[in-house]
Amino acid sequence: MTLIKWNDDLSTGVGFVDNEHKALVNMINELNDAMLQKHGKEVVGNIISRMAAYARNHFEHEEKEMKACNFSGYAAHKKEHDDFIAKVAELKTELDEGRIMVTTDTMKFLKSWLTSHIMITDKLYVDSFVSHGVH
Ligand code: FEO
Repeated sequence: MTLIKWNDDLSTGVGFVDNEHKALVNMINELNDAMLQKHGKEVVGNIISRMAAYARNHFEHEEKEMKACNFSGYAAHKKEHDDFIAKVAELKTELDEGRIMVTTDTMKFLKSWLTSHIMITDKLYVDSFVSHGVH
């Protein structure tokens, strides 16, 4: 089952951003499938690790461009990124230690965080990126 379907509301119009967001959406959908198919914590944990690494690279990419554009919302935006990375790291640790499982609530959190971050926070830098020729 596709948890997040890509649609125009998720598009920022900035090419590299949309491509990286699509990859993150695919990984969250892959994680959702693994959960529904009741895969073990090795399979699930591996997907979370890949998603976390990809998210970290994507966030660094955005942060580098925000800095280059002198974007005024940089600090608040970076804090959202850092909080998400910390939350996913905590989730992975709890999973590894057998204290939690990935559930539909976990998936709801990931879906809600990514879609609202894209549609609200990421869209704030778009004008700045476009005016600085970032695409
Ligand atoms: Fe696309 Fe700010 O993450």
